Amino acid sequence: MRIAVVGTGYVGLVTGTCLADSGNRVTCLDINTEKIVRLQKGEIPIYEPGLEELVARNTAVGRLVFTTDTVAAIESAEIVFLAVGTPPSADGAADLSALWAVIDSIAAHLHPLAVIVTKSTVPVGTCAGIEKRLLTRTGRVCRVASNPEFLKEGAAIEDFQKPDRVVVGVRSADIADILRNLYAPFLRTENPFLVMSPESSEMTKYVANALLATKISFINEVANLCERMEADIDDVRRGIGHDSRIGFAFLFPGAGYGGSCFPKDVQALAAMARDKGLVPRVLNAVHETNLLQKHILGEKISASFGGHLAGRKIAIWGLAFKPRTDDIRDAPAIDLIEQLLLGASQVTVYDPEAMGNVRAIYGDRLVYATGAMDALNGAECLAIVTEWGDFRHPDFVDMARRMAAPIIFDGRNLYSPVDMHARGFTYHSIGKSPVISR
Ligand SMILES: NC(=O)c1ccc[n+]([C@@H]2O[C@H](COP(=O)([O-])OP(=O)(O)OC[C@H]3O[C@@H](n4cnc5c(N)ncnc54)[C@H](O)[C@@H]3O)[C@@H](O)[C@H]2O)c1
Repeated sequence: MRIAVVGTGYVGLVTGTCLADSGNRVTCLDINTEKIVRLQKGEIPIYEPGLEELVARNTAVGRLVFTTDTVAAIESAEIVFLAVGTPPSADGAADLSALWAVIDSIAAHLHPLAVIVTKSTVPVGTCAGIEKRLLTRTGRVCRVASNPEFLKEGAAIEDFQKPDRVVVGVRSADIADILRNLYAPFLRTENPFLVMSPESSEMTKYVANALLATKISFINEVANLCERMEADIDDVRRGIGHDSRIGFAFLFPGAGYGGSCFPKDVQALAAMARDKGLVPRVLNAVHETNLLQKHILGEKISASFGGHLAGRKIAIWGLAFKPRTDDIRDAPAIDLIEQLLLGASQVTVYDPEAMGNVRAIYGDRLVYATGAMDALNGAECLAIVTEWGDFRHPDFVDMARRMAAPIIFDGRNLYSPVDMHARGFTYHSIGKSPVISR
């Protein structure tokens, strides 16, 4: 099929590339000229494992092209995916200005039978709003569908090519059939293709993310309690996780959730509830708990220095909101950096992929290490914020030798407190009382 993907970010680029790889002719459209020029030269503007190779393979055979030319991208497209950002506005509701700008710019160029599909995460009722807006702009009833994306950054290609399920929201069976055919190559292991109304489909995406965020805030809250009760959150996890009604997924305590999705989607769902006169008590609590959790490491570090952070040399390992991505949107590391800079600490940072994005924000206010070990030279403590595989088995002897004091604040519980104590470290983790660490 001939496909246009509007918005060539994390979701648009992965979607366009994977659809090209399954034999479709895909044009990725973006208003960011610099991004498109880089892609045309074969440079990938984001870090996503496996993406570079897949883009190269499909551009080489001409199935995947990048453009800023709306007419060229849209006029022959049978399916137009919308994958622009939907960031939070001041009241937490999704800001749809990019999406409406796209609708207005593509309306005149759409093929009469084109199917317009929202892949962006959009509030319930957006598909209906697009139908109305396109009717006004084109004078005809356009074919609109919802198809929320569930990929995880860091494993985006695998998730797109082997989805747990594909959800589509449509008003007619023939549109469902078009999308079923498109996704057939990715559903050969019989994972379900779920057809529902656009409203249910739009809601599904928010509910999925809100539930995952709820699990994280819940385990973080009880982890903080464990620390004060001489209980060990890892033992408690084992104790509850074997219950088949509970399980282990998404119940890892840490320094809070970040990224471009969970924080904004929880707030957007809460905004929808408020808009309908409901009080989103659980969602509000999930969000507030997370905001506090993102400050936990900074508070522990400050307390260990008696509240005096000024001039302290502090190293941070991990800046991306999670491993295997360079995405730092709403990352807990950013909150920690802000806390430490506010206290006038000297902060040295290291991340395998996100250094460029952090440098673009902080410039010379931080020191950028060339490697994980390099970051530790002279550090009075280390904070670990992202659980990159690179940090799981470091040379602890070398670490202790480089640091001014062997103190670690681990926001991802990478090591055993008992082992770390034996190695001579003062090791603070999440959800384990200092008594357990001895
Ligand atoms: N990132 C994820 O892991 C993920 C997962 C599932 C769903 N989503 C959802 O997908 C959507 C996109 O997220 P993302 O992370 O890919 O965003 P992104 O910020 O990485 O990419 C958005 C792209 O849209 C482009 N854009 C903005 N206005 C445009 C316009 N008028 N015309 C053409 N291009 C335009 C931007 O230049 C940018 O390249 C969001 O709604 C998000 O919630 C994201």
